[in-house]
Amino acid sequence: MKRKVTKAVFPVAGLGTRFLPATKSVPKEIMTLVDKPLIQYAIDEARAAGITEFIFVTSRGKSALEDYFDNAPELEAELQRKGKTDLMNVLETTNMDSGAIAYIRQHKPMGLGHAVWCARRLVGDEPFAVILPDDVIAAEKPCLAQMVEAYEETGGCMVAAMRVPEEKASAYGILDAASDGIERKIPVKGMVEKPPLGEAPSNLAVIGRYILTPDVMNTLHRGKVGAGGEVQLTDAIAAEIMEGRPVHGYRFEGERFDCGSKAGFLQATVSFALSRSDLRDELAHFLNEIVPVARAAE
Ligand code: G1P
Repeated sequence: MKRKVTKAVFPVAGLGTRFLPATKSVPKEIMTLVDKPLIQYAIDEARAAGITEFIFVTSRGKSALEDYFDNAPELEAELQRKGKTDLMNVLETTNMDSGAIAYIRQHKPMGLGHAVWCARRLVGDEPFAVILPDDVIAAEKPCLAQMVEAYEETGGCMVAAMRVPEEKASAYGILDAASDGIERKIPVKGMVEKPPLGEAPSNLAVIGRYILTPDVMNTLHRGKVGAGGEVQLTDAIAAEIMEGRPVHGYRFEGERFDCGSKAGFLQATVSFALSRSDLRDELAHFLNEIVPVARAAE
């Protein structure tokens, strides 16, 4: 029987230089879409998929993340005194049970594969999920929950996948897919991290959700450097295929926002705000007014 996926690794050690100066003192993962930090979206998605142990791979300057998941007794007491139960409920989603969350440091920025490897002792000998909080996915059924369900049939490793325009392929891990059909679960023949323009084996890109077997940690242990001079997670998963173990791409249902980029972050902000009944009307009205003005000024 396949073991249940109960642990998730959140690589959050990056410096977030694309969002300077904000990220000089605020971890990128604390930046908010409407009123919820990026990391909270990732945690909510993990919980919805049955994850009960949360492993953060952090670095210097990320202590705000630890505080975020801690209890806030003064704030809670104040909200209680004022009878603000709705806000107390919101706060509760940020609290973690004792022992449910662990922080481990990546001492040098050596790549995503290296960050995941830093969590090896906490992961142990069981399958685990990886969530990259930069990739925010709006979906009726959260993306990782879709994948866990699919994984129950396939086993092995699974990566979220999405078609991207050919000229964007060099920004992603790209799948060499055994089939190019319309099915959601796609057996993978090979994977390449950030292929040079024109050399991508397909336009199916890896998006930041993974279910991995502990075997991947053994490959990462070798510390082999790949694209961009970094230890790549993509390469370690590709090694699984070479060993004859199954790897699937999962074409998830939902809309993905690249919140690692400013344009993506803004699009997510607008989209999430428009889906909120308390903000929709006012924001839509504002957009209707300014878009024609911006167009006319072009
Ligand atoms: C990482 C992975 C890449 C994946 C991407 C998804 O790249 O290395 O394979 O396609 O996330 O967002 P990064 O965006 O950190 O360069």
